[in-house]
Amino acid sequence: MHIIQLTFVLLITLFFSPATWASSIAQGHDLFQNVCVYCHGMGDKQRFAPILTGIGERRDVTWLNAWLKNPGKILKYDEYAQALLDGNDYGIHMPQIPSMKDDDKRASVIKYLLFKF
Ligand code: HEC
Repeated sequence: MHIIQLTFVLLITLFFSPATWASSIAQGHDLFQNVCVYCHGMGDKQRFAPILTGIGERRDVTWLNAWLKNPGKILKYDEYAQALLDGNDYGIHMPQIPSMKDDDKRASVIKYLLFKF
């Protein structure tokens, strides 16, 4: 199977597995509180990065997955990501976050952002 198809199937499986849905969102919440909130803030309280309220209206699962996994990689080809950096006056950029290399943890944060944030 082609690597992109394989990644897609893996992503869909992780994302839509109902048995782990609630605990996964709870894990996403904890990860967000421990790592992301430092820069992004919570709700409408902004810190050093864009407010993520309503992110699901701006970005889809595939984009969020690529961004969280490795912001530097998607920046090479994605115009939205490039514009995000160009329009950034925070003086700080989104780092590659070690825990977001883990497929399960990344999926849980994405679920949290899209459904509970
Ligand atoms: C060190 C600060 C920092 C941390 C920690 C951080 N981010 Fe970011 N994030 C940014 C900045 C700054 C941007 C804007 C783009 C840029 O300049 O890199 C951004 C952009 C984003 C975007 C795109 C926002 C939009 O409006 O399209 C998402 C989604 C995002 N971050 C999610 C997360 C998540 C989820 C975490 C935790 C796992 C996280 N970030 C941790 C600084 C951070």
